Amino acid sequence: MPNLSDATRHRILYGGDYNPEQWPEETWYEDVRLMRAAGVNSVTLGVFSWAKLEPRPGEYDFAWLDRLMDLMHENGIGVVLATPTASPPPWLGHLHPDTLPRDEDGRTEWWGGRQHFSHSSATYRRHAAAVTEALAARYGGHPALTMWHINNEYCTFDHGDEAAVRFRRWLQDRYGTLDALNTAWGTAFWSQGYGDWDEILPARRAHYLKNPTQVLDFRRFTSDMLLECFTAERDIVRRHTPHLPVTTNFMPLWHGQDAWRWAEEEDVVSVDLYPDPRDPHGAQEGALVQDMTRSQARGPWMLMEQAAGAVNWRGANHPKPRGLNRLWSLQAVARGADAVCYFQWRQSRQGAEKFHSGMVGHAGEEGRTHQEVKQLGADLARLGPHVAGSRVTADIAVLHDWHSWWAGDQDGRPSTRFAYPDVLRAWHRALWEARLTTDFAHPEHDLAPYRAVVVPQLYALTDAATDNLLAYVRGGGTLVCGFLTGTADQDDRIRPGGMDARLRELFGIRTLHEWWPLDTGETAVCDGFHGTLWSEEIEPDGTADETLPYQGGELDGLPAVLRKGRAWYLSTLPEPDALRDLLTRVAADAGARPVLGGLPADVEAVRRGDLLFLLNHGRDQVTVEVPGTHRDLLTDATVTDGVTLGRYGVAVLTEPPA
Ligand code: GLA
Repeated sequence: MPNLSDATRHRILYGGDYNPEQWPEETWYEDVRLMRAAGVNSVTLGVFSWAKLEPRPGEYDFAWLDRLMDLMHENGIGVVLATPTASPPPWLGHLHPDTLPRDEDGRTEWWGGRQHFSHSSATYRRHAAAVTEALAARYGGHPALTMWHINNEYCTFDHGDEAAVRFRRWLQDRYGTLDALNTAWGTAFWSQGYGDWDEILPARRAHYLKNPTQVLDFRRFTSDMLLECFTAERDIVRRHTPHLPVTTNFMPLWHGQDAWRWAEEEDVVSVDLYPDPRDPHGAQEGALVQDMTRSQARGPWMLMEQAAGAVNWRGANHPKPRGLNRLWSLQAVARGADAVCYFQWRQSRQGAEKFHSGMVGHAGEEGRTHQEVKQLGADLARLGPHVAGSRVTADIAVLHDWHSWWAGDQDGRPSTRFAYPDVLRAWHRALWEARLTTDFAHPEHDLAPYRAVVVPQLYALTDAATDNLLAYVRGGGTLVCGFLTGTADQDDRIRPGGMDARLRELFGIRTLHEWWPLDTGETAVCDGFHGTLWSEEIEPDGTADETLPYQGGELDGLPAVLRKGRAWYLSTLPEPDALRDLLTRVAADAGARPVLGGLPADVEAVRRGDLLFLLNHGRDQVTVEVPGTHRDLLTDATVTDGVTLGRYGVAVLTEPPA
């Protein structure tokens, strides 16, 4: 199978979405001049070009794209060619309203924006296949083509009638019989028993709480339908170019796709990443997404989109302050990216994203944003041969699963004061602050390579996943689980006793009497720290080696934290410093060491291959002690026993050549 290295060829890909159909052709020549000067070696063409490529049904106009493909090739810029199927032309919806999706209220999502396609529509799928076939036939042999980019940020839902038909078929495949479905969905409650498949609907608007397993299955179904759309187009382009890798861009921590499952179907895993420049935890957010994407890719991955400056979809859209774009881009490289790309090359003057930054902003070549883009291009060109293809290894895995998220984050639960991603972020941030490099893993993955496995919250665990966790601990692994783990099975059926019995035994819990969620701003005093979000009335069975009790209140003296051997259970979310300290201790006991000791507060350190990346996320100059003599690949300077980093400064250290 082809992979990212087939496109990078020992370089880091640098570039972005290029939407030249917005500009007169003379601008293309100016673009190419600027691209070359900025070290751009890759552009993504055609992401939203369907109406231009197929202005009338079955009538293609490739002349403009021919000229662009040639122009890119003449200038040594590779093309990631996109199928344009995320934004069908107006004629498709006009002629075939069945291609338009319906929301949960049955309202149509019309053309006039983008992503107005029904994943279940046979007509949409037929037209998408046809335009994909035409593109692949025309450009499969073009020398500029390096990779395929299918659709864009698959993220749509459809509750319409055609989706209902496919949903029923999907359920028949999953359950076989209506009896099995009724059992899995618990339809005995509230008179929901189904007597005919045709009675079953997508999770449409209902008067009160919806059946949670129906909602869970509808999410699974949606992810699977979108995946069918992806694989259909992927198979078409693969037939023409079996030697070229295929990707589609994920959105970070997006709830609509089971990205573990999707990643298995891609040659290259890519993601779009837009941390808020004003978020004090922006760097940690980036690190989380980067670690997750690298883990899905099981190696180098592609940063498909980021913003060179401001986005246009937050409340107040700040640009990136000087240096931040470079810092966050190099952070992605440190955490395994072999491609650093943007949305988009040249900032639009019209349309919905004219206030979204580009690599060339409204200020043009002289603008600060472009000047920084240019500097970064030079940095990446320097790093490429040393970095491309190399790996990041981690001693710790954080477990994450979309199905559990879908089951757990629903209405009608004990607390709506937190959402699952907040819990995941809190744990990953604590590990980041402890300078522990982490992978992500699915609960049924092989966990043997890790010294410690951290489960922030896996509300729904399959029997196989539970077996996996138990086997991991039996095999000598260290496991730390957060609250609401192992609560339900794969059908969202609560496990007897409120937590899988085998997990209770693992942690030394006799009875989990009650859940005591904490309100916003409320904390539970524990021995040595405060807990947030949640607490539990747990009766231990006396086998735990160590417990930290709640102090005061209704739970006084009951364990907030239990450790039995190498298995830890936290029945609350400790405040950030306490969680960091606890995980630091757990990791040390398990033999997982921080990347570097004694780092200044704002400095992140990551090892990739035999390089050490040091990233200063602060605005103050700092000195980082690094024993020995090294070469900084960014400056070519030799540094001994330490390196000084200015505001948002980065060093990439290697041993000097002998
Ligand atoms: C997404 C899309 C792009 C663009 C950017 C703006 O990532 O894929 O087309 O809309 O958002 O941030």
